[in-house]
Parts: sequence; structure tokens; C-alpha cells
Amino acid sequence: MFAATAIDTSKKPAFYDELAVQLKALLEGEGDSIANAANTSALIYQMVPDLNWAGFYFLQSDEELVLGPFQGKPACVRIAVGKGVCGTAVDLGMSMLIKDVHDFPGHIACDADSRSELVVLLRDADGVFGVLDLDSPLPSRFDKEDQAGIEKLAAIYVAASSFED
Ligand code: SME
Repeated sequence: MFAATAIDTSKKPAFYDELAVQLKALLEGEGDSIANAANTSALIYQMVPDLNWAGFYFLQSDEELVLGPFQGKPACVRIAVGKGVCGTAVDLGMSMLIKDVHDFPGHIACDADSRSELVVLLRDADGVFGVLDLDSPLPSRFDKEDQAGIEKLAAIYVAASSFED
């Protein structure tokens, strides 16, 4: 049985380094991309403070993201590329760090409590194929250290998982 271990969240780089170790251990020996996405979102939601949503959207075509495994309230299922924070991340090919979602035109509100958002890309050798999305009820919850840490977790998820059709 995997047991997540409480870690000191006061120093973010060290916190994310430790969380990366725990995620690698959690995904060790398992390649199923859906199971790994489910466990990755569960670990993040359990361990990263002040989240109200953590989960995955996967590109189903060049034009549309579809909801994957997540933790939090039920969410919108389909997001067009170029729309919302998630679709904009894919369109621009970069992570999105949104201090206040009320200031982001086109933000898609799946939970009215969400105030800030961090979206990082899932990439393999063929390019971007989805996003990992974190929401917080606190404004300015995420900074560059969170972005770097979550990008590292996303890369661990991608490396551990098989995406063969
Ligand atoms: N807020 C996102 C939609 C997904 S939910 O946050 C779970 C967006 O604007 O793309």
C-alpha cells in the first residue's frame, strides 16, 4: 500500500522535490495512462495545500481537450483549443499561471470558488497531448516555484505512462 508522507511545504523547491520522489514511487511499475493520471491527481490534491481541483485534460483531436481523471468537483468535459486557460495553454504551447481568474478573459469557471489557476502541458516526443490543471480558491496561490514543481510532476507522469493507441 502506498502512503503519502507529510512534507514541509514552507520551502517549495524542496517540497516539490520530495513530492516528485513520492510520485515516482507511486507510479513505479505501472504504465496505464489513465490509472497513473488518477493517482497523480489524487497525490497532488492530497499533498499540495489550498487546491479545490487537480486533474487532467487530454487532446482528443487538434481542436478539443476532453476531461480526464481528476480530484475535486465535477468539471466541464470539453474545452476547445484556444478557449479557457487550458485551451489557451495548448494553443500557445506554454504553461499558464493565472493569479486571478477573474482577470483572465474567457476563463471557464467549473467551480465558482476558483480564484487562481496553474495549467502545465503534457508533452512527449510527438508534442503536446494534454494538460495538468490545478485550481485554488485563493487568489495568487501559484508562483513560478509551483509552476516548476508541477511541470516536473507532469513530466514524471508522462515518462511513467504508456500512450500507445
Ligand atoms: N478553468 C479551466 C477549465 C477547467 S476547470 O478549472 C477544472 C479553463 O479555463 O480552462
